[in-house]
Amino acid sequence: MEKSKLTNVEYGEEKLFDDAKDFLPIKGTDYVELYVGNAKQSAHFYKTAFGFQSEAYAGPETGVRDRVSYVLRQDKIRLVLTTPLTADHPINEHLSLHGDGVKVIALWVDDATKAFEETTKRGAKAYMEPQREEDANGYVVRSGIHTYGDTVHIFVERGAYEGTFLPGFEKWESHYNPPAVGLRYIDHMVGNVGWNEMNTWAEFYAQVMGFAQLISFDDKDISTEYTALMSKVMSNGNGRIKFPINEPAKGKKKSQIEEFIDFYNGAGVQHIAVATNNIIETVSAMRDRGVEFLYVPESYYDDLLDRVGEIEEDIETLKEHGVLVDRDDEGYLLQLFTKPVLDRPTMFFEIIQRKGAKSFGKGNFRALFEAIEREQARRGNL
Ligand code: FE2
Repeated sequence: MEKSKLTNVEYGEEKLFDDAKDFLPIKGTDYVELYVGNAKQSAHFYKTAFGFQSEAYAGPETGVRDRVSYVLRQDKIRLVLTTPLTADHPINEHLSLHGDGVKVIALWVDDATKAFEETTKRGAKAYMEPQREEDANGYVVRSGIHTYGDTVHIFVERGAYEGTFLPGFEKWESHYNPPAVGLRYIDHMVGNVGWNEMNTWAEFYAQVMGFAQLISFDDKDISTEYTALMSKVMSNGNGRIKFPINEPAKGKKKSQIEEFIDFYNGAGVQHIAVATNNIIETVSAMRDRGVEFLYVPESYYDDLLDRVGEIEEDIETLKEHGVLVDRDDEGYLLQLFTKPVLDRPTMFFEIIQRKGAKSFGKGNFRALFEAIEREQARRGNL
C-alpha cells in the first residue's frame, strides 16, 4: 500500500465525526478475499478482463499445503482469490453453499488488537483472535469479527511490515501482464441481507463498529412496477468505508435481493463499487476485454440533460457506452454495472466516477432495476 498517496480527496472523504471520538479508526480497505472454485483461472479472468496486476502468491511452493491464494492489485485495490486443495477443507463448505463469493472484507487499521477488543466488547462475534504473523520483512497483526452471513471483517495492522502482502506470501512474477484499466480504489461495498434484517445490520455497523448512517432508501425510492428493495448506507467516521445494506421489499415479482439470497444461500456481498478517473476509458477497455455490462434503453438518454443539468461528457459517448449519470446537491456521478461475474446470479461490480456527488445514483435506480429485471426474467427468476 502506497501510504503517501492516500489523501482525503482521493477517497471522497467525508468527516462524519471527530477522529478523537472514533473508537475504530480505519485507514481504508486493505484487501477483499474471495473464496473461489479455481483461483488460478479466476486470477486470469481478473487480470485479463479487469486489468488487475499480479502481486503475490501463497500455496504449496511457499509452504502453504492446504490452499492457494493469488493476490491481485490495481492502484489501491487488492483482491485475494483463494481455493482449497483438499476435499475436507472447510472452505469447500463455503463454496458449496455460496459459490464463488466474498469471504473477507479486510480493513486497514493502526492497531488490530484494539480494533478486535473495541468491537467484540460492543457485541461483535470473534472470528480471529489477534495474531502476530511474521517473516524476515517484519510482522503484521491481524484479527477478525463476523458480519452478515458467512462474511467476515479482518483488521490488518501492517505498520511494521515491509514485505509483499502478508507473511507467507511471495511476490508473484508472471510473464502475462495485461495493462490496468484505470480502477483506483473501492468506493463502497454492498451487502444483501434477508427479509427484515437491514436494520439489524445497520445497527451492527453503528453499535459495534461506530459507523454512522449516511442515507436511507425505502421501497418507494427503490422500486419498479414489479420489484422493490430497501437500503441503508453506513459509513465509518472518515468516510473511507461505506457499506450500503440492502434487504428485499415486497413487490409484484421477486426482488433482485431475493434472487441473490436464494442463490447465495443467505446474506453476502452483492457488489463492489470501484472508482475510476475516466469511466469511458475504463468501461471501453473492460468491454473490449470481455466484461458484460447491464444496458439501459436508449430512451434513458432522451431527457438526461433535463434531469442532471450540464455535464462535461458528450451524451452520445455516454450512450454508446451505456454509462448512467445522476446528480445530487454537491455534483454529479457517472456509473455503470456489470452483469454478475459468476455463474450464480450473485456478485457484480459497479464502476463509478464521482464529479463532486457523494451519493449513490438514486436517480438511476429505476432504469437500473428494470435492466436487472430483464436479466432476472431471462434466467427465469423474476
Ligand atoms: Fe453501488
